[in-house]
Amino acid sequence: MGGIALRGLGKSFGSVEVIRDLSLDIVSGEFIVFLGPSGCGKSTLLRMIAGLEEASAGEISIDGRRVDALPPGQRGVAMVFQHYALYPHMTVRDNMAFGLRNVGQSPDEIERRIAEAARILEIGHLLARKPAQLSGGQRQRVAIGRAIVKEPKAFLFDEPLSNLDAALRSRTRIELARLHQQMKATMIFVTHDQVEAMTMATRIAVMNHGRIEQIGAPMEIYRRPATRFVAGFIGTPAMNFVPVQPLAPVDGRFAARLPDGSGVVTGIAAAAIKETQGLELGFRAEHMRLGGEIPATADVVERLGDRTLVYARLRDGTTVVFEDGGDSRIAVGDEVALAIESGAAHLFDAQGRAYHGG
Ligand SMILES: Nc1ncnc2c1ncn2[C@@H]1O[C@H](COP(=O)(O)OP(=O)(O)OP(=O)(O)O)[C@@H](O)[C@H]1O
Ligand SMILES: [Mg+2]
Repeated sequence: MGGIALRGLGKSFGSVEVIRDLSLDIVSGEFIVFLGPSGCGKSTLLRMIAGLEEASAGEISIDGRRVDALPPGQRGVAMVFQHYALYPHMTVRDNMAFGLRNVGQSPDEIERRIAEAARILEIGHLLARKPAQLSGGQRQRVAIGRAIVKEPKAFLFDEPLSNLDAALRSRTRIELARLHQQMKATMIFVTHDQVEAMTMATRIAVMNHGRIEQIGAPMEIYRRPATRFVAGFIGTPAMNFVPVQPLAPVDGRFAARLPDGSGVVTGIAAAAIKETQGLELGFRAEHMRLGGEIPATADVVERLGDRTLVYARLRDGTTVVFEDGGDSRIAVGDEVALAIESGAAHLFDAQGRAYHGG
């Protein structure tokens, strides 16, 4: 129950096209995250699925049934917003019961569902309180409870954690993952926070300008980003991108010269790469380390406890970030010699298409 199919969806506000020809199959029971920068159309897409926004083109089906003409209440989905808007004059219990009473559920059934949601969310002791007597995290849980009691086919979350402080956000993230495991319900979660996406999703759909650039399991997207945009959006710190000139292949592998003159041999098959202009090498901070032959100067040293991020300048001024151990001895201004673990490097052509090794 709860599979969702989107076919050729489009949405324009006046002359502005916000969602373009978007098709996607969401499998029943999966936790899918729509991830992308501000303004890329995540909320609009979610609101179209919920029925809060009319599609300009395309079809939406839930459990095999067309729903695009149905009002939100008949689509069988429940949405949780960033601003959870609980009724301030009602108790937690009444906030959860309200929607069910409106559709004529029996008092016994309402009581059963509230008890079940309260058990799952561990808010049984808060049922008699009003929202003003709750912490932000407790309010967010009540908002989720209000969605759970509807027993929807799918939960739609629009940045529900962004009003919480960092500690609470990471706790709630774990709670949501647990909730998903318990309920096995379809969940669509919108965020621009890639940590939320990486940690909770069964699949991430990375969006850019109203389109899905890539969809896949979190580590698949991390390891094999399909485009430069995805590569730059996923991962903290952001991937290093360095313009390169092709050199003669080495054992069939693509080799390149960095702007400072140093050469690298990648794990990428040279035959796949037709272009010679506008190429960029991409590698993550964890794939560049001390102990090589690329000279650099440390500019900024960020100590994170378990590891240290060092922002450094190559001889030509190119800046890169690399990772060192938590007990790194590197200080600002130090001269270092770096190595790129080039088997893990990616190549991007002028159109932003990615090539991977391995
Ligand atoms: N009612 C509207 N009228 C006109 N333009 C709109 C309307 N709603 C959204 N837009 C535009 O559509 C684009 C996508 O908006 P949307 O809210 O879906 O982005 P988002 O990905 O959710 O961004 P954020 O991360 O900031 O919430 C934006 O450029 C926005 O300005
Ligand atoms: Mg939004």
